Amino acid sequence: MAKELRIGIIGTGMISTRHMTVWEKIPDTKVVAAAEIDEKKLYAWGERYGIAKENLYTDFREMLKRDDIDCIDVCVHNNLHTPVSVAVMQAGFPCYSEKPMAGTYADAKILYDAQKKYNQKLAVQISSIFNFQTRQAKKMIEEGKLGQLYHARSVGHRREGRPGFDMPAFSRDFISKEIGGHGPLCDLGIYHLAQFLYVMGMPELDQVFGVSSDVYYRNPKLLPEGLKYEVEDLSVGIATFKNGVSLDIYEDWAMHMDNVGTSFIAGSLGGLKFIDVDTSGGELAVPRGGMIAGAGRVQKPTLEFFGYEDGLMVSKVIDCQTNGRKEVLAEPEKALFNDNQVHWAAYVRGDLDDTTRIDTPKIALETALLSEGIFLSQKLHRSVTADEIREQSEKMAVRSQKTPWGVIDYDF
Ligand SMILES: NC(=O)c1ccc[n+]([C@@H]2O[C@H](COP(=O)([O-])OP(=O)(O)OC[C@H]3O[C@@H](n4cnc5c(N)ncnc54)[C@H](O)[C@@H]3O)[C@@H](O)[C@H]2O)c1
Repeated sequence: MAKELRIGIIGTGMISTRHMTVWEKIPDTKVVAAAEIDEKKLYAWGERYGIAKENLYTDFREMLKRDDIDCIDVCVHNNLHTPVSVAVMQAGFPCYSEKPMAGTYADAKILYDAQKKYNQKLAVQISSIFNFQTRQAKKMIEEGKLGQLYHARSVGHRREGRPGFDMPAFSRDFISKEIGGHGPLCDLGIYHLAQFLYVMGMPELDQVFGVSSDVYYRNPKLLPEGLKYEVEDLSVGIATFKNGVSLDIYEDWAMHMDNVGTSFIAGSLGGLKFIDVDTSGGELAVPRGGMIAGAGRVQKPTLEFFGYEDGLMVSKVIDCQTNGRKEVLAEPEKALFNDNQVHWAAYVRGDLDDTTRIDTPKIALETALLSEGIFLSQKLHRSVTADEIREQSEKMAVRSQKTPWGVIDYDF
């Protein structure tokens, strides 16, 4: 039996419950402590998961003084990822941090560099990467089944799915500039962009042109009185990479439209359509007999291949769920690549190392570069180069946080 991995959680909001569903299913892992600024929420959470009051903290810095915790799971909101996750590594703990890596590229880079600075392990939650759909697409591209790639399209659409409003169970921090930072592109968009960067072999970004809008939300008929809406509801863009591939990007949280298309990658020999990209954590995130917290139904990642086989034009569906299950039966070690948290636990334990694990901080950093290109391009009214994004990205991370019991000043 492996030594038990003892975990502390920071932030006991909606996503922490999804993480708990998964932690409870991974053998030899145990959440032993948690921190949350809201005391009432913290104690209710402790009761739900059977964690005694002495292991619950309103100030996460107190939890980080313990020497019987192996790693920390950071479940706070976007502009708090860098301050809190850097503090975790500074205190000497490996850190698993929620997506997006941060609100801006500049903040993501600080978190990325902190791994080396404090000699600690870091991972960023990107559920779209840990499944058969992504592995199969990457393999087909590497084997040349698509030929020379030249264009890809990343699409995410909700008819009306605004966190904290149409989806009231979601935190209103999603739509606050100070805490959430940005809208759909930094929410579901990062899953789509990260997956595409990864399967295409991390092409080097060249230029980005983009625009964003908040017109849907500004419609006074749709915005209840008193609700502050401070981020985008739509971002679109086009990016080019130094290897000649282009990528167009569309991501909304709400639009008066039924269908805006599907994500795909096109090459000289074939095209791959990506259906139902996993943005909710896959099968382990489903509570027994229940719905995934904040996501609902279990997604069914699927690929469709278009091309020629034996001289015949073909279109074929690849059922990734079924094939994923069969793959693990034949090669049990693949299970380490089917879930973010399973992967993280294996990395912390040393069953995966820097050469065998999926480098999510690197993928998340490059994703932040790409998404920020869209916002910088709009600000400058022109396309921007990757170097310009790196140089001009501004920090948005929280430096000083007011809590119900006092102020936390961050040092990063
Ligand atoms: N809700 C989802 O379905 C979902 C899915 C995937 C990823 N995420 C990501 O997870 C993160 C959190 O989202 P959420 O929906 O759980 O938000 P949430 O607001 O429900 O939870 C965040 C919690 O963190 C607490 N918190 C804030 N500052 C803290 C601090 N200094 N110390 C301890 N606790 C602190 C808040 O009080 C809150 O309870 C976001 O970055 C989001 O992008 C959320």
